[in-house]
Amino acid sequence: MDITQLILDDHHEQRRLFAILEQIESADTGALTDVWSRLAAFLEVHAAAEEAIFYPELVRLAIGPRPLASAEPETIDAIYDHNEIRDSVTAVSAHAVGSPDWREAVAAANLANSDHMAEEEREGLTDFRRRVTLAERHRLAVAFAAFEARHVTGVRPVDKDPQQYVRQIEEAALSDQAPGSLRIGGLRA
Ligand SMILES: [Fe+2]
Ligand SMILES: [Fe+2]
Repeated sequence: MDITQLILDDHHEQRRLFAILEQIESADTGALTDVWSRLAAFLEVHAAAEEAIFYPELVRLAIGPRPLASAEPETIDAIYDHNEIRDSVTAVSAHAVGSPDWREAVAAANLANSDHMAEEEREGLTDFRRRVTLAERHRLAVAFAAFEARHVTGVRPVDKDPQQYVRQIEEAALSDQAPGSLRIGGLRA
């Protein structure tokens, strides 16, 4: 397995669910509610899994013997985007299911998510494949799959401060590298 492939697979499923919503009649509010609930939970869990498993490892590539300069700005961008996606998902619930305003709010969530996925696929995932061994990507894929399985019904959406998120990971990574320290992996919990 490869964590970058699992993330791509999730992106495909998100695109599929948005496309399904577009093909359900507005009067069929039951089906719209069911499919949107599934998609909303999936978007939250996917972002949370990336923030718990993938992005900490991308940030770690920014420090160390061969620093990857793009890792830090890419992560800051991604966390900012995840906040935008979470907010756009929350905004959908303000409207009556199937109404024109609801459709517009779903379309806004689709746009925020599509823009983010394209950037993530082009930047973070590509950098990660170039720098991280397949054995490590497999180990992370197992953790990613387990995280999503544990939270299959959803997670509480919590926005994060992008700068603070990166700083915390860098501080933990630097203390791991300090002489005599043991890497306990607290950020992977
Ligand atoms: Fe993401
Ligand atoms: Fe993603």
